[in-house]
Amino acid sequence: GDYEGALRPQVHFSPPKGFMNDPNGLHVGANGLYHVYYQYNPTADVAGNQHWGHATTTDGYTFENQPIALFPPNNETFVFSGSAVVDVNNTSGYFPGQDNGVVAIYTLSNSTSQNQNIAFSKDGGYSFEPYKGNPVIDIGSTQFRDPQVFWHPQTQSWVMVTVYATEFTVGIYTSSNLKDWQHSSNFSHHGLLGIQYECPNLVEMPVEGSNETMWLMFISINPGAPLGGSISQYFPGSFNGTHFEAVDSVARIADFAKDNYAGQFFSGIPGTEKRLSMDWASNWQYTNNVPTANEGWRSSMTVFRQNHLKKLPNIGWDLVSSPFNITSQFSQVLASNSSLGNNSILLDYSSVPSGALYFEANITGLTPDTLAGSLNFTFTSSVSGENIQGGTIPGGTTWLSRRNTNWGAENPYFTDKFSSEGIYSGSENGTWTVSGILDRTILELFVNGGEQSGTMTFFPEQPLDTLRIGAKGIPQGAGVSVAVWALKDAW
Ligand code: FRU
Repeated sequence: GDYEGALRPQVHFSPPKGFMNDPNGLHVGANGLYHVYYQYNPTADVAGNQHWGHATTTDGYTFENQPIALFPPNNETFVFSGSAVVDVNNTSGYFPGQDNGVVAIYTLSNSTSQNQNIAFSKDGGYSFEPYKGNPVIDIGSTQFRDPQVFWHPQTQSWVMVTVYATEFTVGIYTSSNLKDWQHSSNFSHHGLLGIQYECPNLVEMPVEGSNETMWLMFISINPGAPLGGSISQYFPGSFNGTHFEAVDSVARIADFAKDNYAGQFFSGIPGTEKRLSMDWASNWQYTNNVPTANEGWRSSMTVFRQNHLKKLPNIGWDLVSSPFNITSQFSQVLASNSSLGNNSILLDYSSVPSGALYFEANITGLTPDTLAGSLNFTFTSSVSGENIQGGTIPGGTTWLSRRNTNWGAENPYFTDKFSSEGIYSGSENGTWTVSGILDRTILELFVNGGEQSGTMTFFPEQPLDTLRIGAKGIPQGAGVSVAVWALKDAW
């Protein structure tokens, strides 16, 4: 593919051409290679004709496009979302003498049914052969999809979560061989319902400051998110191999902006210390309209994110989500100031070939009585004057704005401002940090190392090339530091 287009992210995955939505089949292969599959329409730049596209990466940023992995079985039936596992112990019986067999578990969808199917790969996840006994689960429904499967060592069993979408229900199934599945329980009508549940994940999560783990039920809803369209929510809780129980009934939203959906967690990483995920960085409300089609492609993913749970004093359980190993993509320091005070830095980064930056601003030395001031940033195009902006108040709200970019003003769904108000407030240790990845048409913002995150796409007519970042109104006794790095051109 041609990744030279001015709108093409350079440290984020986007498809070679055509349309992409959900990440699928995320897993770490036997040799430590990361496999990313995705909902893919290779023949048009709008959703439809769903295949599983495929790419691999050793570092989470430098991707190699691979041949399409799963094709529609006929021209009315499509390959919808699902997951993949490495069948190390050959439980399926399909991989004698092999410990790197990959099994994809996915939905086949047409106008009369949605059911769950599997396919086997003997070559480490590149080519797949559908199981002759498909479908492996069929309940006679047209709204039954998105199976996520993982190995549960405590019960020596495979577990699947999959949605009865319009019944707002996650079905939990178990299997010893990935072919025969037993229904175990349902998790239903929790949190925000929207119009449908989609893309469930159930994962064991590390807990900050403890050796314990907790389970996380992650559910995407679309349409009907609070800001419109699609968003994901999560429920911390416990899981015994057959039943999931949430700690409470709170609907925790994973992202305070509007371009983060259908996230999936990787399977196959031993232990839970490196719990990685990737999300689709778009929204069903406007994904088929964004102007990247002029360059022949639509949609990018978030970067790989590292996740854990943390109990915050004021709001309780929180999913902390931050970029995986981003320092590996630093090319040079563009600015660094550890005593900025109530000032700002102005940086022209038009000479950075990737157009992609990582930035971080910190306030230290705050006390509960002096939570004041703000950290602020603006990325501007020196040619068109378009900009995007953001900021955060210590102990309080974080916001983002794309209102000053030309594309989207006439689209009623392309919400122009976002804030975390009501989702979060508080501060620990007298510090407050904001960091982010700016990559041409996508910004991923993280507060306090990922206690809050916001994913925002935007489509300037001219490339953004100037950053102003700094602090205002920070109290006496507090310190401000700012640093900005250029990111490598991963494509
Ligand atoms: C979520 C979703 C899934 C479905 C897929 C189809 O974005 O609607 O429920 O499997 O996309 O492309």
